[in-house]
Amino acid sequence: MPPLQTKTPKILTAEELYAILKNIKLGGQVCHYSLKKCEELAPLVNEVNALKAEQDAVILAHTYVVPEILYGVADFVGDSYGLSKNAMSTPAKKIVFAAVKFMGETAQILNPDKEVLMPAKDGGCTLADAINGSEVRRLRQEFPDRTFVCYINTTAEVKAECDVCVTSANVVRVVERIPDKKIYFLPDKFMGQNLIHELKKRGVSKDILYFNGTCDVHKEYTLEQVHKVNLEYPEAKVVSHPECKPEVCEASDYVGSTSQMLQYMRKTAADQFLMLTECGLSARLQVEFPEKHLVGTCTLCDYMKSNDLHDIIRVLKHPTDKDRISVPPSIQEKAKKCIEAMFLYAEK
Ligand code: 13P
Ligand code: SF4
Repeated sequence: MPPLQTKTPKILTAEELYAILKNIKLGGQVCHYSLKKCEELAPLVNEVNALKAEQDAVILAHTYVVPEILYGVADFVGDSYGLSKNAMSTPAKKIVFAAVKFMGETAQILNPDKEVLMPAKDGGCTLADAINGSEVRRLRQEFPDRTFVCYINTTAEVKAECDVCVTSANVVRVVERIPDKKIYFLPDKFMGQNLIHELKKRGVSKDILYFNGTCDVHKEYTLEQVHKVNLEYPEAKVVSHPECKPEVCEASDYVGSTSQMLQYMRKTAADQFLMLTECGLSARLQVEFPEKHLVGTCTLCDYMKSNDLHDIIRVLKHPTDKDRISVPPSIQEKAKKCIEAMFLYAEK
């Protein structure tokens, strides 16, 4: 996995920030940088870095958040799996989690004694919002003989009702290692279908039922788009996230978590890529691999993009109860078992 383990400098000038971000040229204005914009951002970046040092705080950021967070203030950038592991091992007193709520909850469950702050204005996620604890309890009554596997994109309450958690980086590996043949996978329908195909390809026999949630960002990609790019750019590699539709994943050269997608691109000799995931990954590609070219489009996750530098300053200076992740102890304990089961299978 290729995390972006940043050494955030104490002081960053507008010119230095612009030099990092100037190659980002994606659809919306959110991801366009001029020197003027960097002159506005640099003082905020420096204020966050000063506050972080003062308060012994660490900033963990998902790849989908705005690039000024990734390259200006984050200490670690990665996928859900890398972020969970980093949250578990950080010696810092305080964690600021620039991502969405289920990721902050996971950090808090793994670090019950640390303060976890969420700057997101709207930390939702269409997958995490697709199912709640009482629905899982009902499903468990309906299918009492199945092992319940949940994607990490679920609330703590849902994790507390499930047996094993997975991330996009380890879903196949973990489910393959679960001794039970009968699995109920939730909440992502497409990831469930992709899991079934992949296990079949590997000759692993499992009987998997799945829930009907989808991610609004990834469900937008279609097979027609892939075919169009195949025709226009026959040399381009198609790289997709397992939240995409099964026909899209089947037509891709590689399927993996956001960090694995980046890693694939890093080690593949091709210089044109269609990245079927949120625009944050495309932005990283333009900054970290300026010699490689993006073809096609990307889509924005409004939840991830609702994190900004102003809110990071606000939660560091004047945190309110709303900014603090607080998982009730009874849920915390049960959800922790579910996440720990993932680590056990994933690392075995
Ligand atoms: P990753 O764990 O692959 O980064 O995915 C998280 C996510 O929310 C994808 O939509
Ligand atoms: Fe959730 Fe989709 Fe956004 Fe990922 S991209 S955080 S799955 S809504």
